[in-house]
Amino acid sequence: LNPLEKYPYDVLIVGSGIAGIYTALSLDENIKCAILSKGDTKHTNSWLAQGGVASVLLEEDSKEQHYIDTINAGAGICNKEAVKILVEEGPNAIKILMQMNIPFDLCEEGRLHITQEGGHSNKRIIHCGGDATGRIILEHLKKIALQRPNITFIDNTFLVDILTENQKAKGVIGLDKNFKIYEASNIVIASGGIGQIYEHTTNPKTATGDGIAAAMRAGVKVNHMEFVQFHPTALYQDNGNKQVFLISEALRGEGAKLRNIKEERFMEGIHPMKELAPRDIVARAIINQLNKQKEQYVYLDITSKTKDYLKQRFPNIYKECKKAKIDMDKDYIKVHPVQHYFMGGIQTDIYGKTNLEGIYACGEAACTGVHGANRLASNSLLECLVFGKRCALDINNRIVIPKPYQGIKKTIHINKDTEDNKKRHYKKEIQTIMTHHGGVVRNEKSIKQALSKMEHLINHLKKDKIDTINWIESYNMALISYEILKSALKRKENIGSHYLSN
Ligand code: SIN
Repeated sequence: LNPLEKYPYDVLIVGSGIAGIYTALSLDENIKCAILSKGDTKHTNSWLAQGGVASVLLEEDSKEQHYIDTINAGAGICNKEAVKILVEEGPNAIKILMQMNIPFDLCEEGRLHITQEGGHSNKRIIHCGGDATGRIILEHLKKIALQRPNITFIDNTFLVDILTENQKAKGVIGLDKNFKIYEASNIVIASGGIGQIYEHTTNPKTATGDGIAAAMRAGVKVNHMEFVQFHPTALYQDNGNKQVFLISEALRGEGAKLRNIKEERFMEGIHPMKELAPRDIVARAIINQLNKQKEQYVYLDITSKTKDYLKQRFPNIYKECKKAKIDMDKDYIKVHPVQHYFMGGIQTDIYGKTNLEGIYACGEAACTGVHGANRLASNSLLECLVFGKRCALDINNRIVIPKPYQGIKKTIHINKDTEDNKKRHYKKEIQTIMTHHGGVVRNEKSIKQALSKMEHLINHLKKDKIDTINWIESYNMALISYEILKSALKRKENIGSHYLSN
C-alpha cells in the first residue's frame, strides 16, 4: 500500500453548484477553501435550473405570504424556523446577487421581470436569460470565485468517503486518476440530488447522491428520505433517454394549460390554483390522466402566445421543442412527470450543521426542513443562497487557526485495475425498482417487495466490491434507494409527495 497524497484545506466543499460556490464566496477571504467536484459546474442540477429564484420583491407581496405558500406546498411539515429564515433572508440574498451584477431579466420599463409559478399566490420568481437562470447565475459566481485567491476548484474528482475522527470532520477521500486525501476539519456537502436512481429524471448523470451516501456511511443523520419530487412537465420523447428535458413551470406561470389526450383541460376541479397548484398535486393529476387514457403523456398548451414572445421569454425551451419538431406557438407540447428534486437528505440545523462536528450540508443534498413533504417552485435556488451563506457564517466563526495535521489512520485498498464492466448492471436494476415501487404513487406491499430486492442487491454489491467510480456510484444509489423505501414504509399517511394507493 502506498501512502496517499494529502492536500490540506481549512474548508472542503463537495459540489460546485450554486450552494457550493455561494458558500465558498461567503467565507472569510483568509480561509483556504477547496471546491471538490465530480465533474464541474456544468454537471450540476443548478446549471440546469430554468425557472428562477423565488423571493418577495413586490410591494403587493409579503414575506408572510411566501412563508404560508412554502408551508402549504410542504404539506405543513416544514421546519417553520427554517422557512421563516428562508423568506426573511431571501430578498437580501437577491440584493447580493444584483450587487454581483447577475443579469436578471428586466421588463420593458427596466424593472425586474417577476413571474409566478406553481403554489405561489403572488408573482415572486426572477430569472436570467429567459429560462437559463441556474446557468447564468453559476457562470457569474464561478467567475468571481476564480478570482478569489483563497478558493481552489478541484474538478473531475469523485467523493469516495468522508473521514472522521472522534465524531469530527477530518477530510475526504477523493478519486481522480488516483485516490487522494483532502484534509479539512470543516466539510460542506453541497453535492446535489439523487435523480439517477429513477429511470427518468431532469437531473444530470452525476446526480447519484454520492454526498448523501458518503455522509450516511460517516454516521451523519439523514431525514425526510421518503420525499421525492416529480416535476409534472418534462418533455416526453420516445427516445429512451434517461435525462429528460424540463419544460419549466414558468410556462404555466405565463398561462400554459394542461390538456389530456382528448385535448380537455383537467386541472379545473382538482385544485383552486388549477395548473398552478403545487407540483405533487399536478403530477398526480397527470398520472391519473395517463392511467385513464392509457397513454405516456398529456399536453401542455401555450399556443395562446406568439412565436416572438415564446422565443424571447423561453429561448432554450423553444429551441429544444423545435428540435423535437414542436412549434410551441402552434403545437401542444407532450409532457410527463419525471423525478426532479429530493426534499430529503442530510439533516441540518439552521446553520447547515449536521450531528457531526465540522460536517455541514446545504442545497439539495441537505434537509434543512424548508421543503417539508414537497418543495415550492424556485425555492431551491433561494435555499442554496440563504443556507449556503449560513454554513459559511458558522464556519467563519468557528475557524480560529487550523491545527497542525495529526495524520489519518485510515488506509484504503486500491484495486483500480479491476475492470467492472462485466459486472451486473446494478444501476439499471436500481432504477427499475425505484421507478416501479418508489415513484409518484406507491403502496405498502410494493414498497416491501422493493425493500427486499434492494437488500439483496446491496448484498451482491458488497460481494462484488471494487474501487471504481461505477461501483461506488451504484452502491451509493442502492443505499439511498434503500433509505427512501424504508422511510416510505414508515410514513403511513398520504402527505405531499408521498402518496399511497390501495
Ligand atoms: C422549473 O423551472 O419548473 C423548475 C424550477 C424548480 O425546480 O423550482
